[in-house]
Amino acid sequence: MRYVRFMRSLALVILGFASGGLFVITSQHFIASAQRDNAASNPDADLQRLKSIVPPASHPMVEVGYHAANLWFAGQKKNWPLANYYWGETRNRLRWEVALNPGPKGTDGNPVDMKSTLDGIEHGSMAKVKDAIDKKDSKAFADEYKNLLEDCYSCHKNVNRAYLRPMVPVNVGPPIINTDPAATWPQ
Ligand code: HEC
Repeated sequence: MRYVRFMRSLALVILGFASGGLFVITSQHFIASAQRDNAASNPDADLQRLKSIVPPASHPMVEVGYHAANLWFAGQKKNWPLANYYWGETRNRLRWEVALNPGPKGTDGNPVDMKSTLDGIEHGSMAKVKDAIDKKDSKAFADEYKNLLEDCYSCHKNVNRAYLRPMVPVNVGPPIINTDPAATWPQ
């Protein structure tokens, strides 16, 4: 009798463990699938995730600085196809900056309309730099490039960043791209 009772409680304990385990496994399964459903159908979560992976607003501008500097060196070497490439990259990154940061606070505290500022520059100094590249005109290129830098700076002043004063780049060109149009290596 004692043996039977012992076996019965042993069986209950085993059953208890088994169903407990089953409960844990199934509940984990439910939690996981609920999280999946949640992520799939929760636009807020998707938005938060997208916001968390968008680069900081200053990121395209770092690239504008890089491409605009390379544009100068390509023009100096009369490497017009390369200058044309860097001109396009500069313009695209400026547009990206405007998309990421369309209305930074201006000197009067109100948002600055970055898009119309850039539209003006694209139709002004940017267009003239492009024209000089197309005509392979070094003198016009240097003049219009400087006008472009003045436009860069006028936007920086408008957005309260007068400390970001551009200059005609000195030192060297891009370290890994050969700006020499007569380079022979690599083939
Ligand atoms: C339409 C306005 C606008 C124009 C045009 C503009 N910038 Fe900027 N620039 C900004 C803003 C705004 C920032 C600050 C970035 C931020 O906080 O979003 C900035 C920042 C920068 C920075 C600092 C990036 C860093 O964080 O290290 C550089 C370099 C720069 N600009 C270069 C240029 C050059 C070169 C041009 C012209 C070819 C130019 N910018 C034209 C608005 C402009």
